[in-house]
Amino acid sequence: MLLQGSSTKRALIPFLIVFLCLLIISCVNPEDKYVEGNIKITEKEFAETLGNLPADVAENILAKRAVFLSYIEKLINISRQDENFILFPVDKTRFLPETFRPSDLVDLEREGVSVARRGLLLRANAAAALLEMHRAASSEGILLSAASAFRTFEHQRNIHNNFIRTHGQEATERFSAPPGASQHQLGTAVDFFPIAVEFKDTRAGRWIKENGWRYGFSLSYPYNFEEITGYMYEPWHYRYITKEGALVEREFFGGLQFLFLNYLAEHKGFFKERLAVE
Ligand code: DAL
Ligand code: ZN
Repeated sequence: MLLQGSSTKRALIPFLIVFLCLLIISCVNPEDKYVEGNIKITEKEFAETLGNLPADVAENILAKRAVFLSYIEKLINISRQDENFILFPVDKTRFLPETFRPSDLVDLEREGVSVARRGLLLRANAAAALLEMHRAASSEGILLSAASAFRTFEHQRNIHNNFIRTHGQEATERFSAPPGASQHQLGTAVDFFPIAVEFKDTRAGRWIKENGWRYGFSLSYPYNFEEITGYMYEPWHYRYITKEGALVEREFFGGLQFLFLNYLAEHKGFFKERLAVE
């Protein structure tokens, strides 16, 4: 009788363990759960990173959070391997050092890219992507021609000052970056020919707007965002932000470069820390 009683109790132990586990799991606050993936971040912490984004953008990211964070992990690794501000926002509040000049500039014409004038330079990774894009456009009978590319801090200072002399300070600040604030100093920004608003209605302008992201190129100064970007619409100005970057910008940030790069700059350090946690 006694023996029978203790074996019944023993048989109950596994059920008891399962019951206790279920009880513990159900007691964990959903916000304290970790988002799936290698970045160790709770649902609550993750949702907080989305606080400053437009509601529809935040909702879409939240719905696909595991995929989004796996892309963020890739982007962190890209920027770790590249010390040349590849995904860093450069604007009127975030300047490049006067001495910054990428060490891997190549001549676009020599690389086989169509150029509207000689001596245009870009970083090797951006030039390779531009060549690939140029070839894809050519195969559809479209000529993408670069009209401006890398500019030194000094060069930017000269053109900015010349514009101030001819157009006045206020007008100039709407279309020309002060020295240190130009994406052209990064060696990853390209102005396509013609540098004019009419570019948007050319076959080249329409093609790049539709396809640029596939090659890692992103429109820096979109229509209607002057208050945020600091510049008038520039349909001809694209920045290379890597293929992964352009894909994330398109999929999750409505194709808005400033929204994407600002988010990344603001939260990259936090995500990096959490990636290192075992
Ligand atoms: N036109 C852009 C804003 C520049 O000067 O870099
Ligand atoms: Zn430009």
